[in-house]
Amino acid sequence: MTTDRIYLDYSASTPVDGRVLEAMLPYFQQHFGNPSSIHRFGQRAEGAVESSREQMAAALNCQPHEIVFTSCGSESDNLALRGAALAARQQRGANHILISPVEHHAVARTAEQLAEVFGFEVERLPVDEYGRVSPQEVARRLRPDTAVVSIIHANNEIGTLNPIAEIGALCRQRGIPLHTDAVQSGAHFPLDVAALNVDLLSLGAHKFYGPKGVGALYVREGTPLLPTQTGGSQELGRRAGTQNVPYIVGMATAFALVQQEHAERAAHERALRDRIIGRVLEEIPAARLTGHPEERLPNHASFVFRGVDGNQLLILLDAAGFACSSGSACKTGNPEPSEVLTAIGLPRAWALGSLRVTVGKDTRPEEVERFLDALPELVEKARLHNGEHGESP
Ligand SMILES: Cc1ncc(COP(=O)(O)O)c(C=O)c1O
Repeated sequence: MTTDRIYLDYSASTPVDGRVLEAMLPYFQQHFGNPSSIHRFGQRAEGAVESSREQMAAALNCQPHEIVFTSCGSESDNLALRGAALAARQQRGANHILISPVEHHAVARTAEQLAEVFGFEVERLPVDEYGRVSPQEVARRLRPDTAVVSIIHANNEIGTLNPIAEIGALCRQRGIPLHTDAVQSGAHFPLDVAALNVDLLSLGAHKFYGPKGVGALYVREGTPLLPTQTGGSQELGRRAGTQNVPYIVGMATAFALVQQEHAERAAHERALRDRIIGRVLEEIPAARLTGHPEERLPNHASFVFRGVDGNQLLILLDAAGFACSSGSACKTGNPEPSEVLTAIGLPRAWALGSLRVTVGKDTRPEEVERFLDALPELVEKARLHNGEHGESP
């Protein structure tokens, strides 16, 4: 990759921070033992896993035994939803699952499987034009047989933040566990699980300058959860399999850096984000911001352009040296409008032309200016290519 390529897709993934890589390296060759082994090699590895757990717990304001290490954010979501749903059914015959229509596929597809294969009734909450769930709508739909509620903290496609603490307080009053997917927000905000009133919270390290292939799930003490990966008794029996020691060390180091540096990172990113939003809306015709104008991730700008094929625009941008996304990374190549953009009520001719621009802690203002200088012409090109087949807004 040439150095003059400009990466503006930090919500898809981030590079591993040099300090994180340095912390990980000794655990590949020097301290390589299996954390479950009795001998000193094992003890050394176990020590690293346990101090990483303490670090994660301190950052999240919970107890170390409430942290389960997983292989990614998707696995954390799977374990939370499937594990809580099956446990609630086993313990109290609960059969109802409440989710938002703007969940990441890791939650949405898991809920679909729970409905199709396991016979759960999955209900989707309404959202407003910004993709926000109203706590009152949650309260209205909670039932004695609700097994679990899952609401995304910060949406990956449109950046909107949900009022999780309020929703959590309502769920707690009724004794129903609340899961939140904090894979995006974990990169930007200090997350206090006590203040958020959540029972389950998912994280994935590669969104916050940690390695890919490692994640964590917070499980509040006493929350019923059936393991979905069975075998050894690792992770207090909640997730079998030898822990990925270097990656766990990397995640804990990266998460500690988020806690130390989040204010400075957010101030830097927010200024760039606001510059992007301002210039795009001013300079590009038939463009709209998607997601909430204020209650959104500090690094996240997302738009729709009427009559544009979003994938075509990404290809043109890539050819011009800019890496962006049209929604979540997994949706690239999917010609259907995204479920999230449909859920917020956008007509097809707008929803197909989505663009997500996400900056990082090291993005430079001149990179953003180069991108903004190039974008209007590329949008016009993509619009012409598409024959501007747009319906009216
Ligand atoms: C909101 C959200 N949840 C879950 C995931 C999945 O995380 P991972 O890539 O670690 O499996 C992502 C990644 O794009 C995400 O943005």
